[in-house]
Amino acid sequence: MPTILHLDTSARSLDKSRTSRNSISRMLADSFREQWTKKMPTTKVIYRDLAEKPPGFIDEAWIAAAFTPEEQRTAEQNTLISLSDELIDEVTEADMILLSTPMYNYGMPATLKAWFDQVIRVNKTFSFDLGRGDYPLQPTLSGKTMVLMTSCGEFGFHVGGIREKMNHLGPHIEVASQYLGVDKFYEIRCEYQEFGDQRHIDSLNNAHTDITNLIKRLT
Ligand SMILES: Cc1cc2nc3c(=O)[nH]c(=O)nc-3n(C[C@H](O)[C@H](O)[C@H](O)COP(=O)(O)O)c2cc1C
Repeated sequence: MPTILHLDTSARSLDKSRTSRNSISRMLADSFREQWTKKMPTTKVIYRDLAEKPPGFIDEAWIAAAFTPEEQRTAEQNTLISLSDELIDEVTEADMILLSTPMYNYGMPATLKAWFDQVIRVNKTFSFDLGRGDYPLQPTLSGKTMVLMTSCGEFGFHVGGIREKMNHLGPHIEVASQYLGVDKFYEIRCEYQEFGDQRHIDSLNNAHTDITNLIKRLT
């Protein structure tokens, strides 16, 4: 039975009875999940809404706890990293991470960054060994697929596009996700939201076509 960890992060919600102001990234992930589970009905879905319940920011005490060997941690330190443990268990269980996110200020929302800071953890999702020379970090998990749904107000963030160099969303997530065991990465992006013109309608339609094609490819 495949397991999907579905994470939504947009500050905007998705209300299917509404015709406007819906989160586009949430809508794309919802469509992927609906089509996927129709085709693969035994899929287990773990769901988190990071906008509704944002993970806390890590601090000095959190870092000290994470770097203390498990058998030496105090009860207080175990409590400090208990959410991190829970979030990591969800990642570990997942075969696929279905992540939806808006572009905020050319990168990811703070809630999603807080999630990454909680889940990428030494001796849990990666090992650190200076014996490896210039690349001491190595992921300990593997074989996961990430399907990323993004939405942005402007356009041209693709490779070779006019805003490629301003895109700190998909490329950042792809790099960070390696330390969660992601070795297959797919991004479906909707652009032009702020223009609201035909280009936006076309971009949204293309994203929906991409979803159908990706599901065919992965199932
Ligand atoms: C706080 C904030 C910052 C944003 N920053 C950018 C940006 O840097 N580049 C961009 O293209 N769009 C930006 N946008 C537009 C959003 O990416 C766009 O509205 C997108 O559709 C939001 O995703 P959602 O529909 O899933 O909520 C921003 C929107 C907000 C609210």
